[in-house]
Amino acid sequence: MDVWDNMKETGKKLYIKTWGCQMNVYDSRRMADVLAPLGYSAVETPDEADMIILNTCHIREKATDKVFSELGRLREHKQAQEKKGRRMLMAVAGCVAQAEGEFIMERAPYVDMVFGPQTYHELPQMIMRVTGERVVNTNFPAESKFDFLPDEHTAPGPSAFLSVQEGCDKFCTFCVVPYTRGSEYSRPVAAILDEARRLRDAGTAEITLLGQNVNAYHGGGPDGKTWGLGRLLAAITELEGIERLRYTTSHPRDMDDELIEAHGALPKLMPFLHLPVQSGSDNVLKAMNRKHEISLYYEIVEKLRKARPDIALSSDFIAGFPGETEDDFEQTIKLVRDIGFAYAYSFKYSARPGTPAAVMQKQISEKEKTARLHHLQSLLFQQQTDYNSRTVGLTLPVLLDRVIEEKGQLHGRTPYNQAVHITAPADLYGRIIDVSITRAFQNSLTGEPVSTVPVVKSARI
Ligand code: 5AD
Ligand code: SF4
Repeated sequence: MDVWDNMKETGKKLYIKTWGCQMNVYDSRRMADVLAPLGYSAVETPDEADMIILNTCHIREKATDKVFSELGRLREHKQAQEKKGRRMLMAVAGCVAQAEGEFIMERAPYVDMVFGPQTYHELPQMIMRVTGERVVNTNFPAESKFDFLPDEHTAPGPSAFLSVQEGCDKFCTFCVVPYTRGSEYSRPVAAILDEARRLRDAGTAEITLLGQNVNAYHGGGPDGKTWGLGRLLAAITELEGIERLRYTTSHPRDMDDELIEAHGALPKLMPFLHLPVQSGSDNVLKAMNRKHEISLYYEIVEKLRKARPDIALSSDFIAGFPGETEDDFEQTIKLVRDIGFAYAYSFKYSARPGTPAAVMQKQISEKEKTARLHHLQSLLFQQQTDYNSRTVGLTLPVLLDRVIEEKGQLHGRTPYNQAVHITAPADLYGRIIDVSITRAFQNSLTGEPVSTVPVVKSARI
């Protein structure tokens, strides 16, 4: 008899709330996979849940506060369940759990479990233990959690994430990731291909390979050699049924020629790249320990555009890093104007406890950070709207990945990762169809279905 058989009780409800990056979205799905054999199925609201997991993010400010206020709200659900004589387990997972585990257990005595991103494959054991005691598990186990995860039990959908690399050895001076996710680890090629096949068999058409430093991927190949990301992407595009591939997040330092060339050579690799630069100033990049100069970024963009002329670029920016002068900031504005981004994320610098930048001299005032962020965002948002406007009138293949029932609409993505809404029957869900783009907004497009036959475009937008 399976050791877990006596824990298997059907009809248990699992509510997971996810904050932060796509890696957390992937982790949440895999936690649901781990718990499915124990009879847990995912629900959309915390009411009546038998187990609640908050999968948290620690990257920027107020992360811990947000977790505590959510916990405060959820505590009422727990008390209501307990009044009915039902046990509800409450867990905090992810990067806040990793960084603040003991503190959470102290301040929120009603939390049953706290566990870091590297330990969720041990959830069944933790649940078994917790029915007797409270559990904090923030170890970095030597072995990979991936070796212990079950096959997928939850429907991945038409577009799914696949984690290929985790952790970071770069130690940018502002970032908590190397402390919360540990050092770089790449999964072996065979395990990734297996997972990609299973996703394909479950109906996934688009896979986004994930890693904190995804392009630093260097996994063991079936030939005994170490494979880089370019080679891995090429192998996955061979899988029939997988129509689209993406990867995120990359570091400029690891953008090697093989990977850049893959953008020209692999039609299934979508013409969109998220390549964070953070700042346009060499001084700031140095203080951030980004390990490259701005000229490298320009070089990469030039090579990418040569390989794939229509590639859309996206980036991350931090405004008001310690010591950033007006002149440094102007160089960021110049970089944005020079490159032209289709999309971008921009943030005020936020001092993260335990990181070197948090104790640097010349911290920038909140007022100045806000002013710089607004200035930067007005340019980035304008570029984004302009980019979207340039796709009006084009016919683009759109993967329809969500049904918006209330509106009789479907949501999808263009190759350039733009969100599109179309009015069409829900049974087109999961298909890639041609859509004529009719209107553009800052964050999305609207369009009309043209046909159900995909086309591949490669004009520079
Ligand atoms: N302050 C502001 N932004 C940050 N990021 C990471 N750490 C910080 C911080 N301390 C941003 C970076 C990174 C993105 C995921 O979050 O731009 O690329
Ligand atoms: Fe953080 Fe830098 Fe590593 Fe990215 S490369 S996860 S920003 S330390």
